[in-house]
Amino acid sequence: MSSITKTTDKPDMIVRKMPFEFPNDIDPHWNPDKPEWSHMVNGTSLAMPFLEPYLIRTMRKSLPLIDSGTLKEDVKLYIGQEGQHFQQHRKFNDLLIEKGYAELTNIERQMKQEFDDFEKNRSHKFNLAYAAGFESMALGVAHWLINDREYLFGHADSRVASLVLWHFVEEIEHKNVAIDAYNAVYGHYFYRVYGVIFATLHVIKHSRRAYQAMLKKDGLWNNLRSRWKLLKMTTRFFRNMLPPMIVACLPGHHPSQVKDPQWSLDWIARYDSNTDEFAILDTTNISASFS
Ligand SMILES: [Fe+2]
Ligand SMILES: [Fe+2]
Repeated sequence: MSSITKTTDKPDMIVRKMPFEFPNDIDPHWNPDKPEWSHMVNGTSLAMPFLEPYLIRTMRKSLPLIDSGTLKEDVKLYIGQEGQHFQQHRKFNDLLIEKGYAELTNIERQMKQEFDDFEKNRSHKFNLAYAAGFESMALGVAHWLINDREYLFGHADSRVASLVLWHFVEEIEHKNVAIDAYNAVYGHYFYRVYGVIFATLHVIKHSRRAYQAMLKKDGLWNNLRSRWKLLKMTTRFFRNMLPPMIVACLPGHHPSQVKDPQWSLDWIARYDSNTDEFAILDTTNISASFS
């Protein structure tokens, strides 16, 4: 594993280049007991190579508008982390398309068009509010995925589980950066809340379109039992997501007030100790702590 460390005195963010590979033997139903959940994650993964470059470009445009040298450094690290995320998801998404879900390319085209349109036709304030809003949602998702990891990833394909959990450990790690950038450049509270709601609904819309296409391809979309399982999973998602989203919308909210899950702190500490085989988690014992 190689990494780029930050040069300032703040030691808590680094860009990690993970050695993930997604060979052809990975099943798109990487959690065999939960094909609906597998596709919910696959659908979200599909958005990343379009969403995250958009976040990167938006944050890069914020750099000349930010005075704080520390925040500028954090924005650069944020850009580095998001750059690694979407490149790993690109590899995984290519596998999904190769495995028979060719219609995903149409959905990818729509995603690209919408993000290009935001960049071209909406203000930088809108795009930065979207970035800060998306990061608020990602923080809530990260806590859910980590706290519920036994149910969501237990006995699943470890290569996919490791991708998703690494990504969300880093979403927790850079939780302050986009909101700090938004507050430094614009700081309008109600518009920030609009960004949280807009970005959340926008990402859900695209993920849903993608997992619906995959479930249709599998012949599961019109299967009542499968739809019931999907409804239970989406309910679980909203039950876990709504409380942190409400907190994120409160006046004076800052993500630094949200305590990081111990598991993500342990993941980072273990990575820092340079255990080479650590990148791939053991999903047969995923509820265990690292210590
Ligand atoms: Fe990310
Ligand atoms: Fe992020």
